[in-house]
Amino acid sequence: MKEAKIGVIPGDGTGPEVVREGLKVLAAAADSVGFKYETVEYDIGGDRYLATGEVLPDSVLEELKALDAVFLGAIGHPDVAPGVLEKGILLRIRFELDQYINLRPVKLYEGVETPLANKGPEDIDFVVVRENTEGLYAGAGGFLKKGMPDEVAIQESINTRRGAERCIRFAFEYCRARDKGRKLTLCGKTNVLTFAWDLWDRTFNEVARDYPDIQTDYAHVDAICMWMVKNPEWFDVIVTDNMFGDIITDLGAMVQGGMGIAAGGNLNPEGVSMFEPIGGSAPKYTGKNMINPLAAIAAVQMMLEQLGRADGGSLVEQAIMRACAHDLESMNAGRMGLSTSEVGDLIVRYVLESGVQPDEKHTASKAAANGPGPLATEHKPEKERS
Ligand code: IPM
Ligand code: MG
Repeated sequence: MKEAKIGVIPGDGTGPEVVREGLKVLAAAADSVGFKYETVEYDIGGDRYLATGEVLPDSVLEELKALDAVFLGAIGHPDVAPGVLEKGILLRIRFELDQYINLRPVKLYEGVETPLANKGPEDIDFVVVRENTEGLYAGAGGFLKKGMPDEVAIQESINTRRGAERCIRFAFEYCRARDKGRKLTLCGKTNVLTFAWDLWDRTFNEVARDYPDIQTDYAHVDAICMWMVKNPEWFDVIVTDNMFGDIITDLGAMVQGGMGIAAGGNLNPEGVSMFEPIGGSAPKYTGKNMINPLAAIAAVQMMLEQLGRADGGSLVEQAIMRACAHDLESMNAGRMGLSTSEVGDLIVRYVLESGVQPDEKHTASKAAANGPGPLATEHKPEKERS
């Protein structure tokens, strides 16, 4: 019996390279904890669009709805006009699978360099809960007199009570379950955007009454950008809308060491969720075996957690932390000291070493005690899964 059927969309640019490493690690973690799954790969992205004109066939979308999770590499192609693939694939999946939460952990691991002076892993460990189906992303608006001198372009932010409430409620629940600082900060703009953020603010305060154990706070989005740089230790969980969430999570990615390590989950807690490295397709590094696959591997960790296999997720996170602390020279493409596939092999080795049964532990811990030596090749997952 398979526990999970996982859709894989390698996508564009470096997507396929990092997905390959993510799948190697998934196989290793699954072997270690006895998790059975199968994968179905979908050829979706810029190349397919350029070859056939198809962006995301309805039939594929229907198939995705029947899966347990989706693992996505990257969407975005230099030869395709901006918006075609982003809206046609990424946003369409988020919307039609009603993945109303975009969960983005910002966690600095030991050994990873942050651009923030005098801040370390004890200061940088928070999570952004981004609303993922509404706001400015809803696509409301249009042109009037397009191309004419008095052209008008309107782009409206759609905020529903239900949409804000389910996102805020998720954030409170998540904050409680995470049990770290028990503090939830609403990130908005109540001083200018007085309709949308009035609704969010009222909803936030009403929902807060159900969570007396969670301390609440509010900050305007511009101030959040300032505090994320100056005092990141103030944050535990931040909840915000789609657009602000998009912006502050790129800042968050930099704070945690760069796009090479930042992962996110597009969650439908009642349905099918999709996990991705948040860095994009990085065309300049494509095919060079230089891109950092840790973000994709961290996405696999989040996927395992969402699939109810926190045991497997934790093995993956421990392995990432070990590699960050001892083996990787930097998080940046081409400067890691290892190639893309070597980083994947290393994480696989670490997952298998910490995932062994107690009676095998003696030999494994001896191997581990030898430290980050040459990459093991003997610890390949038992069978390569397709
Ligand atoms: C992200 C990305 C996407 C977004 C783009 C690629 C459409 O920036 O996942 O943050 O804006 O949501
Ligand atoms: Mg973004």
